[in-house]
Amino acid sequence: MLGRITSSLATRGLQRLLISRTPACAERLQWSSIPREVSTSTSSFQQHEQSIQKDNTDFTAKNGKETTYVEEEVAKFRLMASSWWDPHGDCKPLHSLNKLRVSMICDGLIQSGIAKPEYAEGPTPLKGLKILDVGCGGGILCEPLARLGASVVGLDAAEENITVAKLHAEQDPKVHQNVEYLYGTIEEHAERVNETYDAVIASEVLEHVESTDLFLSTCAETIKPGGSFFITTINKTPFSWVGGIAIAEYVLHLLPPGTHDWNKFIPRQELLFVLEKYGFVTRLVHGMGYNPLTNSWFWLSDTSINYAIHCVKEK
Ligand SMILES: C[S@@+](CC[C@H](N)C(=O)[O-])C[C@H]1O[C@@H](n2cnc3c(N)ncnc32)[C@H](O)[C@@H]1O
Repeated sequence: MLGRITSSLATRGLQRLLISRTPACAERLQWSSIPREVSTSTSSFQQHEQSIQKDNTDFTAKNGKETTYVEEEVAKFRLMASSWWDPHGDCKPLHSLNKLRVSMICDGLIQSGIAKPEYAEGPTPLKGLKILDVGCGGGILCEPLARLGASVVGLDAAEENITVAKLHAEQDPKVHQNVEYLYGTIEEHAERVNETYDAVIASEVLEHVESTDLFLSTCAETIKPGGSFFITTINKTPFSWVGGIAIAEYVLHLLPPGTHDWNKFIPRQELLFVLEKYGFVTRLVHGMGYNPLTNSWFWLSDTSINYAIHCVKEK
């Protein structure tokens, strides 16, 4: 136990050092993941929405197997489908979160040695890498990663979100050529692919799924040995109830009330323990803070509310 705490402290010291010394990717990317000239209009979404066969069937009922899918959680994001790309709407904090998470992913892939060295200094440092973004929503994180050269698969359990993501990607050729969007759950996808991806991302998703253990082990199956797993989520602490739910949803109205259920938050130590169980070595754990006045995120040593993890699957 003491060993784990000591090694966690040592890792965190190293992590802070790595973050502070590696602004490389941040400097290369235009953070505006909402290109001004392209936006998915509500009307074009609505046209597509009408063509979607509404299928709210519980995935468990479909195949009788254990699932990570929770209909009432996915329904919240299905309802938000037309506002994913509204820079002033409910997803505003997810857009601004790109500044932290894209640099963490890009720098993490370069530093862990999986990114191709020949592209590391150029405008597409992620060229040649296959990345899966699980629970991609409308593609807010997929798009900047595709612009950095990665081949990105965006997967989401709400078909409406996939429709919006596809429509938006079509408007930028640089994104369109590098991104593929798929409708389904992680366990359905893992049945079709095995150790395929150089990196898997689950950003702001873990707190909306059933069975953290199943979700993480299934994600792990899709990652190549030596590949990376990036997670951002919310800690289970009294502070996360106050800051992440009471203030964010009911005082500042940053998110619709009811977006988060405190019972589904994951204690940081528990998450690290499960990742270790599935063969991951932790490289980085960071707290993330949000300033609602400037709509900007910043790294923190305090992980009591939002936090990010980068871990690598053992070879
Ligand atoms: C808070 S949103 C995060 C969107 C995106 N990752 C981002 O940060 O911009 C959570 C997303 O996870 C999706 N989701 C929930 N459960 C899922 C599951 N079991 N498999 C795949 N996607 C899931 C939801 O439909 C929703 O779009």
